[in-house]
Amino acid sequence: MPDTNDSKSAPVDAMVMPFVPYYTDERCTIYNDDCLRVLPWIDAGSIVTDPPYGIDWRPRVNHTGDDHIWHDDKPFHPSVFLAFGQYHLFWGAQYFADKLPVRESWLCWVKRPIVQDFSRDPRTYATIELAWTDFAKKPAFKSIAWDGGKRQGAAENRTFSHPSQKPLELMRWCVGMLPDDHGIVVDPFMGSGTTLAACKMEGLTAIGIEVEERYCELAADRLRQGVLF
Ligand SMILES: C[S@@+](CC[C@H](N)C(=O)[O-])C[C@H]1O[C@@H](n2cnc3c(N)ncnc32)[C@H](O)[C@@H]1O
Repeated sequence: MPDTNDSKSAPVDAMVMPFVPYYTDERCTIYNDDCLRVLPWIDAGSIVTDPPYGIDWRPRVNHTGDDHIWHDDKPFHPSVFLAFGQYHLFWGAQYFADKLPVRESWLCWVKRPIVQDFSRDPRTYATIELAWTDFAKKPAFKSIAWDGGKRQGAAENRTFSHPSQKPLELMRWCVGMLPDDHGIVVDPFMGSGTTLAACKMEGLTAIGIEVEERYCELAADRLRQGVLF
């Protein structure tokens, strides 16, 4: 008869991560699922992400039309994600600043136009983006060329791969500010994998979670081919 008082007799399998990676390499792992299901199973050190802002944004130019962002029509609640990891960064935080602790260490991306002067049409695009962090030492901005929907350096007529893909240079700047004890960097709203590509280039270990398989495939392609754009 088993000794029911022996807690060590609990099945080991009960603690095994139940999600199979969509992609994995020496630095990066991707899960294709809802982040709220996967996150509790991950030993996250830092959350660096660009979530759905809750603004129901629909891109107007240079896109395929089938690129509405999952969950962007619902309010975003950052407090859920503050419970994971020690350090946090959220792009788009101006849309949910009232739900975040007061900090002065905001980051700003100034979108320097390279093709069209979209800054003259604020109805179409924000000309800056803001990120809230609890680890940057002081407020800072970075000016990075952007042309209103196409990646810098991409062919003129190419449709954009992800409707809100961030510049790799921007995400390298962000992860480069993480303190030394950053642990595993997790992007629960991975999109096309820019955070993971940036971590890979900076020599950090990263996990991305993305609910849409087409974006997991895109991110895996970027990481697999070493095409870090
Ligand atoms: C703003 S985009 C991130 C774009 C990314 N920064 C990039 O450079 O490609 C947010 C992503 O979160 C994904 N998403 C939304 N809700 C999610 C959820 N509950 N779990 C995982 N991914 C989710 C969307 O499909 C979308 O690709």
